[in-house]
Amino acid sequence: MCGIVGFIGNQDSKEILLKGLEKLEYRGYDSAGIAVINENGVKVFKEKGRIADLRSIVDENTLASTGIGHTRWATHGVPSTVNAHPHQSTTARYTLVHNGVIENYDLLKREYLQNVTLISDTDTEVIVQMIELFAKDGLNTEEAFRKTLTLLKGSYALALLDNQDNETIYVAKNKSPLLVGLGDDFNVVASDAMAMLQVTNQYVELMDKEIVIVKKNEVTIQTLNGEIINRAPYTAELDASDIEKGTYPHYMLKEIDEQPAVMRKIVQKYQSEQGQLTISEDILQAMNDADRIYIIAAGTSYHAGLVGKQFIEKMAKIPVEVHISSEFGYNMPLLSEKPLFIFISQSGETADSRAVLVEVKEKGYKALTITNVPGSTLSREADYTLLLHAGPEIAVASTKAYTAQLAVLAILAEVTAKSRGLEVQFDLVQELGIVANAMDVLCGAKEDFENIAREFLATTRNCFFIGRGIDFYVGLEGALKLKEISYIQAEGFAGGELKHGTIALIENGTPIIALATQESVNLSIRGNVKEVVARGANPCIISMKGLETDEDRFTIPEVHELLTPLISVVPLQLISYYAALHRDCDVDKPRNLAKSVTVE
Ligand code: M6R
Repeated sequence: MCGIVGFIGNQDSKEILLKGLEKLEYRGYDSAGIAVINENGVKVFKEKGRIADLRSIVDENTLASTGIGHTRWATHGVPSTVNAHPHQSTTARYTLVHNGVIENYDLLKREYLQNVTLISDTDTEVIVQMIELFAKDGLNTEEAFRKTLTLLKGSYALALLDNQDNETIYVAKNKSPLLVGLGDDFNVVASDAMAMLQVTNQYVELMDKEIVIVKKNEVTIQTLNGEIINRAPYTAELDASDIEKGTYPHYMLKEIDEQPAVMRKIVQKYQSEQGQLTISEDILQAMNDADRIYIIAAGTSYHAGLVGKQFIEKMAKIPVEVHISSEFGYNMPLLSEKPLFIFISQSGETADSRAVLVEVKEKGYKALTITNVPGSTLSREADYTLLLHAGPEIAVASTKAYTAQLAVLAILAEVTAKSRGLEVQFDLVQELGIVANAMDVLCGAKEDFENIAREFLATTRNCFFIGRGIDFYVGLEGALKLKEISYIQAEGFAGGELKHGTIALIENGTPIIALATQESVNLSIRGNVKEVVARGANPCIISMKGLETDEDRFTIPEVHELLTPLISVVPLQLISYYAALHRDCDVDKPRNLAKSVTVE
């Protein structure tokens, strides 16, 4: 949450910073700001709202080749211009942008800043005021920065300017992501390489508790103790066109449409030259050594984990538990003797999941991360990584990452099963090909889903998703999609649970989206539909070919029963998309949310 950029070089920095922030808007979009510095000192421009709002107040005539910028997702203090970053110390000597949460900011404020008047409600302002305080005590900027860092508890990615030096950006990180990018006669700082691809694809990873002194022609990485670190840069394998919307009105629609191609790419990436699906030996060993697998994830990735449990248990016959990452720390189950942890995270940066990873690594357990972002924190810190190969997912609502997670989990389950000498009843390569084709059909049926959204969801205040077995998990994901982008109160329920309480919510006209893709529970879920209809509900049944009846609203193409979540979710994604459009919601950037949840 929150995105940071910095530029120091040989040309005016404003446009580079603004363009960088536009690419980081997915990380937070309630306010934004930039600070630029030249021989006349620092100038700060900040505004509540989007980058477009910030752009409109930036003074074209201020020229400066060094600057920092920030796009915010509010944690401390409401979204406002005062609380927007950059924040400055009282004399305006220091200017700071911050991504993360300083847990002990109140304590630090009371201990060090009794005589300083803070103007914002942010934890960030405490940091910048402390730096100034220590500088006033006689420390130079680097020393004051370093001393402040040793006192901070929590997460931070920081970029700092000193009004007395327009040739340096001071940078540090702990738990929040941050990269330094290298150029010819310039260097950059960014929360995500995507932001600065416009100027470089060469990046150096930063580790927690490192300080970096960034100059135009020099980058010095040090530990908090001042030990110099040499780290080679890597090339960010991102295609700038992957992060553009192209002709699409929204990233979400583009990403839904990309799903068939992502399925085909995943198969190709995990296929050996002989056409077999493969997973590296060390991951298979870890799977086979485990007596129980613990899947840890949040949001959509958690929903993928619920389906992944079915894949692994049914194919590889290893027991699996699925846990919400933010709950795991408090509600840790009794662990088995030989656990393996699987972290599922599109971004690889989710703070709640990372907190669990740190804890299980401390206990000495093995961890595998399934992520879309190579080099992300969860990928670096786990023992093993499996990549989703879905390409950048920019819309806040996760779509192609969910189906990619399911495909990779299915591959992991199948390859593990085979390595254990278990028979898998179907050819997964072929079945994923059928899935991709089915997705093509669904993406071609947008008009049907737009009609469903208009008919069922244009004015409703709530909507329930019901299903049994694996359909129930897809219903949970459908409900999350709908609520996060259309603000309709949506919940997913197990069909059999309705009469244990939930059915009391049904009123005349309540939309119920029912999934019927599983032969074994087809009659029971249809029975549940009858029960809600008898109480006035407006049912929209989505069935799978072979199980359809005349009362169904849409029938998805037939795929292997175990793989239905990969395609039954597509109508739900598209219905949510059109519902949000009909209700004039900001589809790609829903209120109160951010794509990458880097605070706990
Ligand atoms: O990057 P992650 O997969 O770890 O993110 C987890 C959730 O924050 C994420 O899936 C969220 O629920 C999506 N916005 C839902 O569409």
